[in-house]
Amino acid sequence: MKVVMIHGQNHKGSTYNIGRMVADKISNGENVVEFFLPRDLNHFCAGCYTCIDDDTKCPYYEEKNRIMKEVESADVLIFTTPTYCMRASAPMKSFLDLTFNYWMAHRPRKCMFSKKAIVISTAAGAGTKKAVKDVSDALFNWGVPYVVTYGISVQAMNWNGVKDKKKQKIEKVTTKIANKVLNNKSVKVGIKTKAMFMMMRMMQKNNMGSGEIERAYWEKNGWLDKGRPWK
Ligand SMILES: Cc1cc2nc3c(=O)[nH]c(=O)nc-3n(C[C@H](O)[C@H](O)[C@H](O)COP(=O)(O)O)c2cc1C
Repeated sequence: MKVVMIHGQNHKGSTYNIGRMVADKISNGENVVEFFLPRDLNHFCAGCYTCIDDDTKCPYYEEKNRIMKEVESADVLIFTTPTYCMRASAPMKSFLDLTFNYWMAHRPRKCMFSKKAIVISTAAGAGTKKAVKDVSDALFNWGVPYVVTYGISVQAMNWNGVKDKKKQKIEKVTTKIANKVLNNKSVKVGIKTKAMFMMMRMMQKNNMGSGEIERAYWEKNGWLDKGRPWK
């Protein structure tokens, strides 16, 4: 079971530790690949749209590809982000912007439609709901059909500050999440994802997408015909 973790922060605070607990419970600490943002992708989207026609033309392709190669080969993705100003962290948001070409509106990847993902955020008080939604919305648009979210208010600025009682609760919840993900053997693509895909398909069919190269991608995959990225 390969787990790939994308951390929306460079430091190892509460969010990191909770994410790592889940990862270790899923994989016994083996086969876990981690990326830290901004350490591993220190850029904002330049808005040049070059990725729409050719991923490799993105000015940050090399760093982005290092991460996305691992993401594409993962069984389980774990995203962690502290809640900053009621939303996901800026480095996490920047990563999501840089992967917008993976959205169903553009060139979705077949492999995404069978993945499981977990999104975790901690806050001192409030805001985790919106922070995890920032990430889970993007994952929905990547086509990821199974996303478990966990937002928790830790009432602390770092992991050392989290009370033991809270840590015990986190221990229990992370075990539950890991078991839930492990026990789900066949991920099914839901009606919402299918509906979004069909809408995007119509858009491409009617030449209302972002261009000929994008349409050719859909055609080559057989999606304008009877083919679908799910089984
Ligand atoms: C820039 C910044 C913004 C923050 N915004 C919020 C917020 O909107 N709501 C909240 O409850 N806590 C907020 N916090 C507190 C953190 O979300 C909280 O301490 C979190 O658990 C930190 O996670 P970490 O230990 O992984 O860094 C903020 C902290 C920082 C540094």
